Amino acid sequence: MIIGSKLLFFKDLPSTNSLAASMIKVDVVSEGTVIYTNFQSAGRGQGGNKWESEENKNLLISVVLFPEMIIPADQFLISMAVSLGICDFLERYTSAISIKWPNDIYVKNDKIAGILIENSIMGDLIEHTIAGIGININQTNYSGDSPNPVSLANLTGKRYDLDNCLSQLTSDLDKRYKFLISGDFDLIRLDYISRLYRYKQWSKFRDLKGLFTGRILNVSDTGRLVVGREDGIINEYSFKEIDFIL
Ligand code: BTN
Repeated sequence: MIIGSKLLFFKDLPSTNSLAASMIKVDVVSEGTVIYTNFQSAGRGQGGNKWESEENKNLLISVVLFPEMIIPADQFLISMAVSLGICDFLERYTSAISIKWPNDIYVKNDKIAGILIENSIMGDLIEHTIAGIGININQTNYSGDSPNPVSLANLTGKRYDLDNCLSQLTSDLDKRYKFLISGDFDLIRLDYISRLYRYKQWSKFRDLKGLFTGRILNVSDTGRLVVGREDGIINEYSFKEIDFIL
C-alpha cells in the first residue's frame, strides 16, 4: 500500500493542503502520507474559493505523492486517478455518481466532493503532488456559498464512521494510483471519460462568448474539455473558461 501507508491526524488545522506543503519544505515526507483533520479554519477550494465543512462531520484529507512516472504535460492524469478513487469509494454507499469536469464529484446534480490538486513542477519533473480531498459524509445542513452541496447522510439518511470511511477511501485511491505507477494511462483516461457528468448529453454551457447548447465529446490528454456545439463547431476549454449551466 502506498496511499495510506502513513496517516497523520490533527484535531483542527487551517488547511490540510497548506500543512502538507509546509511539511514537504522542511521534512522528508514519504509517498502516500495522508494528512487529515476534523476541522479546517481556512479550507481551500478550486479557484481561490473557500472549502467549508462542519466540525467532525466530513472527510478532509491531503495525500502527498511523488508521481515521477508522469511528465508535467500529462499531470491531469493525477486528477483523473484521484477522481476515480473517490467515485470507487462513494460507490460502496450510493449510485448515480459522476465526475463534473475537471474534478468535482457529483451525485445526480449535486456536489458531494471536491478535489484541489497542487503540483510542484520543476523543469520536466513533477517534484511532488498534494491531492486535497473534501468529501461530505455526515453533514446535513450547509451555510456556505456552494449552490448544491449534498452528503452521504443526505442521500441515505444514515450516519457513517469517519475512520472506517478514511480507510476505505485510501484503499480505493491506492488502487487507482497503482494504475498510474504501472503506466496504464489509457485505462484511467477511459474510465474517467465514461464517468463524466453530462457526457455526450446536449446541455447548456456558458463560455466567454455567452450561453450555448453543446455536448462534451472528450477530455484532451492535457485535461482540456472538448465540447461540440449544435452548429458543428468543436472547442477546447481550460478550467474556468467554461461553466456548466445547472
Ligand atoms: C473544490 O471543490 O473547490 C476543491 C475542494 C477541496 C477541499 C479539500 S478539503 C482537504 C484539502 N485541504 C484544503 O484546504 N482543501 C482540500
